[in-house]
Amino acid sequence: MQFTRGDFPADFQFGVATSAYQIEGHGFGGAGLTHWDSFAATPGNVVRAENGLRACDHYHRLDEDLDLIKGLGADVYRFSTSWARVMPGGTGPANPEGLDFYDRLVDGLLARGIKPAATLYHWELPQPLADMGGWRNAAMPDWFADYTATIMGRIGDRVWSAAPINEPWCVGWLSHFEGHHAPGLRDIRATARAMHHVLVAHGRATQVMRDLGMGNLGAVCNFEYTQPATNSAADHAAAARYDAIYNRFFLGGIFKGEYPEAVLEGLEPHLPDGWQDDMTTIQAPLDWIGVNYYTRKLIVAADGPWPGYAAVDGPLPKTQMGWEVYPDGLRHFLNLAHDYAGGLPVYVTENGMANPDVPDIADTARTDFLTQHLGAVQQAVADGVPVAGYYVWSLMDNYEWALGYEKRFGLIHVDFDSLKRTPKASYHALARWWR
Ligand code: FCB
Repeated sequence: MQFTRGDFPADFQFGVATSAYQIEGHGFGGAGLTHWDSFAATPGNVVRAENGLRACDHYHRLDEDLDLIKGLGADVYRFSTSWARVMPGGTGPANPEGLDFYDRLVDGLLARGIKPAATLYHWELPQPLADMGGWRNAAMPDWFADYTATIMGRIGDRVWSAAPINEPWCVGWLSHFEGHHAPGLRDIRATARAMHHVLVAHGRATQVMRDLGMGNLGAVCNFEYTQPATNSAADHAAAARYDAIYNRFFLGGIFKGEYPEAVLEGLEPHLPDGWQDDMTTIQAPLDWIGVNYYTRKLIVAADGPWPGYAAVDGPLPKTQMGWEVYPDGLRHFLNLAHDYAGGLPVYVTENGMANPDVPDIADTARTDFLTQHLGAVQQAVADGVPVAGYYVWSLMDNYEWALGYEKRFGLIHVDFDSLKRTPKASYHALARWWR
């Protein structure tokens, strides 16, 4: 990698990201059952029915992992706090061991000179709340606000930045329309409600954190570059619908207080009554916007009811996920986020790739991928976007949700039998200019 820190704006923050359920080990420390545990226990949902009960055992290897972040030279560590670890019942009493764990995590980062960037929800919904309908339930924003007050009441005085929800599209669409993530629904009405409630929860949690006196609050959305597979008018229209659902619905709510027409076309009949009244809450002022970006999709029109599209295989080189490598998409979305967020700092809060790595692999695919995407960040900076940071997904190989432990996104290899950590060549390549 031919970069130096001087190739990026002054005060640019480099970091790595993880999430609670993917690394901690939810069988430890009094964490409650989550909807990912029951989703994984249902045959056919997750590769080999794997779950996060042990994961990387980060819960017991916290210091070793924090030393590895330090060794990388990262400025920022983006982690998430697990609702089910903090409040095993979803509501009601907190789990003291859970709060202590996040306390140690934050203090351990600060002691090493690393900025803690917290995300409040990265998908491990406490099972008792899932039993009450989860994100379909209009009470979710209230419950989420209570959880926010509990965890941030403990660590909010020391975190450097915070965002309520990781990737609202995954929480809403992927989990309730496509059924690929917990709770595995394929139901348009559940989808509409989840997509709206998740934004209301985002706004409520933001307000709770402001009231606690916290600053540097943002939102983390994911994006997929969308292109029609052919020049036909039908494929163009289908791609525009895909783009609106994936890339514009959440930014539209948060920054404009409105949802795109192309989405309301299908979802409006299913939104909760009076949804427009929630827009002020959803538009709670933010300090930054986060872009998670991995790939592009080629879209064609498809028969059948709204949204009437399908994705087709593209010609570009692909990662272990089968995702096309398309760095220009990152430049595009940094510009798009800037258009919506009007002047706020924009962070790349996730970017990276999966590869079938073994510990001593040359790891050139990942270093090439990161080099290309860092180049796209530089282009966005040249376009005038106030890009303020870039975080690699992920610190270490981990539980890749419905794809289990097979898809390796880490800068650090994890042997899931011995749990041994081995930094890959990409870790060393970044450390050479981050440290
Ligand atoms: C993102 C998720 C993260 C991980 C990466 C590969 O959508 O936020 O947990 O699964 O994709």
